[in-house]
Amino acid sequence: MKIGFLGMGNMAQALAEGWVKKGLVEATNLVAYAPNQEKLAANAARIGFIPMASAKACVQAVDTVIIGCKPYQIREVLTDLGEEILDKSVWSIAAGWTVAAFNVTWKELGVNTDPKLGRSVRGVLSIMPNTPAMVGEGVFLFEKKCTLPAEELAEAKRLFEGLGIVETIPTELMDVAGYISGCGPAFVDLFMEAYADAAVKYGVPRATAYKLIAQTLLGSAKLQMETGKHPGELKDAVCSPNGTTICGVAALEKAGFRSACIESIDAIVNKKKNG
Ligand SMILES: NC(=O)c1ccc[n+]([C@@H]2O[C@H](COP(=O)([O-])OP(=O)(O)OC[C@H]3O[C@@H](n4cnc5c(N)ncnc54)[C@H](OP(=O)(O)O)[C@@H]3O)[C@@H](O)[C@H]2O)c1
Repeated sequence: MKIGFLGMGNMAQALAEGWVKKGLVEATNLVAYAPNQEKLAANAARIGFIPMASAKACVQAVDTVIIGCKPYQIREVLTDLGEEILDKSVWSIAAGWTVAAFNVTWKELGVNTDPKLGRSVRGVLSIMPNTPAMVGEGVFLFEKKCTLPAEELAEAKRLFEGLGIVETIPTELMDVAGYISGCGPAFVDLFMEAYADAAVKYGVPRATAYKLIAQTLLGSAKLQMETGKHPGELKDAVCSPNGTTICGVAALEKAGFRSACIESIDAIVNKKKNG
């Protein structure tokens, strides 16, 4: 399978580098286009993919196209490509770009993607990734409504599972699930920074503080995933009667920790609703 990236930013680099490093894809089977050709060439030299001089050349060289630019850039990219995209499989990692969004846009642009009317794209898969993909611990939300042929969807699953976990999500939940896994790393980073600040306040060197909280987070996450236990049960196991941990838990509750987490998602939902 030859894969072409349109856009080679942070997320596309994480995918390309991860697949090459893990031996899941030969670097020579990856091509990419991005407007800043100097930056593209530097990334190509580091990762091993083949840099392309135009989006059209990139798409012509491959069977599968990964849309790796920002969501607001996609319409322009599709306009430039026009019918060049026909016969290709399209995997998108752009937030909000579901299968339906692509189909509506192609229709508006006058590109015929209806197989009943003639040529079409082979299929579309919408994926919501997250930055821990860079270390092989990503979450990849696959939109359930996917028009790729079954064997290509299986191949996509195999490649993304090489860099983390894949969860298939109904279209109507893609946005909110993406706020948890896609935006989540920023919330978790804030949590780590806050606990490191607390440790530093009481004399722990900052580098040690980050190591302690990051490993605690990693270990707690692994414990929950491997045991399948309810997080409340795992919390209870750390809280002895009249102990220290429960005092900390009570302080977090008083400060509205749980509510703050829920409200962080409310804020995004409201921003989307109000434009
Ligand atoms: N970062 C995240 O945490 C995250 C999480 C979930 C989903 N995503 C999704 O991943 C996608 C990429 O995000 P990112 O963080 O990797 O962004 P990024 O680092 O800003 O990369 C954007 C890339 O798009 C390229 N580009 C700009 N205009 C283009 C055009 N007309 N044709 C082709 N490529 C073009 C840019 O090239 P130049 O640098 O040469 O301008 C750059 O390589 C977004 O759609 C986002 O919704 C990101």
